[in-house]
Amino acid sequence: MTGAHVEDSHGVGAGMVRAVPYYGGFAVTSHRAPAPPALSPAVVADWQAGGGSVFELLSLVNALGPVARVSFGAVDAVLVSQPEAVHHVLALHPERYVKRSHRLAPLLGGGVLTASGDPWRAQRRLLQRHFTGQGIRRFEGAIDGAAERASLLWERASGTGEVRDLAGDLRFYSLDVIWRCLTGRPVTPETYEELRAVDAIIGALPVVPRPGDAPPDLGPEFARIDAVVERTIAEVRASPSGAGLLHVLLEAYDTEQLVRDEVATLIFAGHETTATTLAWLYLFLDAEPHWRAWALERGADGVRALLAETLRLYPVAWLMPRHATEDDVLAGYRVGAGDIVLTSPYFTHRDPGLWPEPDAFRPDRPHLAERHPAGHGAYYPFGLGPRACLGAQFTHREAQALLERVLPAFVPKLLDRPGPAFDITVHPAGPLPGTIQRA
Ligand code: HEM
Repeated sequence: MTGAHVEDSHGVGAGMVRAVPYYGGFAVTSHRAPAPPALSPAVVADWQAGGGSVFELLSLVNALGPVARVSFGAVDAVLVSQPEAVHHVLALHPERYVKRSHRLAPLLGGGVLTASGDPWRAQRRLLQRHFTGQGIRRFEGAIDGAAERASLLWERASGTGEVRDLAGDLRFYSLDVIWRCLTGRPVTPETYEELRAVDAIIGALPVVPRPGDAPPDLGPEFARIDAVVERTIAEVRASPSGAGLLHVLLEAYDTEQLVRDEVATLIFAGHETTATTLAWLYLFLDAEPHWRAWALERGADGVRALLAETLRLYPVAWLMPRHATEDDVLAGYRVGAGDIVLTSPYFTHRDPGLWPEPDAFRPDRPHLAERHPAGHGAYYPFGLGPRACLGAQFTHREAQALLERVLPAFVPKLLDRPGPAFDITVHPAGPLPGTIQRA
C-alpha cells in the first residue's frame, strides 16, 4: 500500500536525526519512524479519473488512520487528525509547521491572517487588544445595532410570509457587524452586494495549495473588493468621528497599503465565517426543532451549546494547511521537511473514538463546554496556538446578540436543506430559501 517512491521523496537520510517528543511512552527519532500509511497510486488515479473533490480524496486518506498521506505530484500531503499530533503541529511547534504561500495572500497581502514573523506579531498584538476581554466592549453598541436591524427585518418578513434567502440575511448581518465595528456606521445594501465577490473567491480558490499550480484568475473579484476598501478608507479618513477600528488602524499602521490589507482581512475573515456558522445552526434546528426549546430553557448556555455543536460538525475553516520546515514525528510517523501538513477539525470532530455518534447533532453532548479528555486537539474550530482565530470571542458575542433576539421570537421554515460544499470553507451548497414565522 505504501508507495516507496513517496517515502524517498521525504529526503530523510543520515545526519538528519533529531530527538523528538515522546509518543506512546518511547522516544522516536524521525529517521527511525515509519512513514504514515499512504493512499495507493491506483486509488488516487481512480479518484482523479472520477473527477472527485479534494474532500473526497481526503476522506479516503483519513480512513487510513489518524496520520496518513497522499502524494500530490511532487509533494506529499499528510492529513493529521489525532488530537495530540494536531496540538503538536498547531500549538507546540508552529515554527516547524508554518503558513506558506497562503491561498488568500493575493487578496489579503500583509494582513494579519497572511503575514508572518515580526510584522505579524506587531499586528496581532495591536488587534488582540480590540478583539478580546475589555477591548471587545467597545464593539457592543455596533453588534447590538446590527442585531436589532436583523431582528426588525425578520419581524417584517414574518408579517408578509415572503420567501427569503436566510443565508443572505445572516451574511448581511455578519457584514453589518464587522462594518459597524470598522467604520462606525451600518453597511449599505450596495456595499453588501459589492462584497458578494467574496463568495466567488471562496468558490474559486484551491482547497489545498500545491506548489507550482497557477493561481485562479480572480482579478475582477479582487478589484471589486479593493474598490470598496479604498473608498471606505477615504470616507473614514475624511470623517471627524473616530468611532471605528479603522481609525485605530490609520493611526497605528505605517502604510496605506497595510491598512488596506488589514481591512480586507477583517472583512474576509470576519463575516463569511460567522454567517456560515449561523446558517448551519439554522439548518440543524430546521431538521431537529426540539433543540430550539432545549436551548431557550438554558438561556445563554443553551445558545453557546448550539454554536459549539454546530462548529463541531461544520468547523467553517475545515482545513488548515501548514508547510513542514523540518523532519519530525507525528503520532509515531515520520513527516518530512517540505510536506504539506493538513490539520482538519472536520475529520477530528467526526472521529467516533472521540465523539460518539459523531454525525448526530447533539448540543447536550459532554465535552463541548469543557476541555475534551483527549486534549485541546480534539476540538478546535478556531484553530490552536499562536495563529488561532483572533475573532473567536467576537464571533460568540455576535452570534449571541442575534440569537438572543431572534431565537425566542421567530422560527424560520426552510424550503430546501442543501448539503455541504467543501471549498476553503465548508458551507451550505446553495441558498437557504424559507419563510420566517413568529414563534
Ligand atoms: C465562526 C466563526 C469563525 C471561525 C470558525 C473561525 C476560524 C478560524 C480559524 C480556524 C483560524 C486559524 C486558521 C489557521 O490556523 O490556519 C482563524 C484565524 C483568524 N480569524 Fe477566525 N474564525 C471565525 C470568525 C472570525 C471573526 C469574526 C474574525 C474577525 C472579526 C476572525 C478573524 C481571524 C483572523 C484575523 C485570523 C488570523 C489570525 C492570525 O493568523 O494571527 N475570525 N479563524
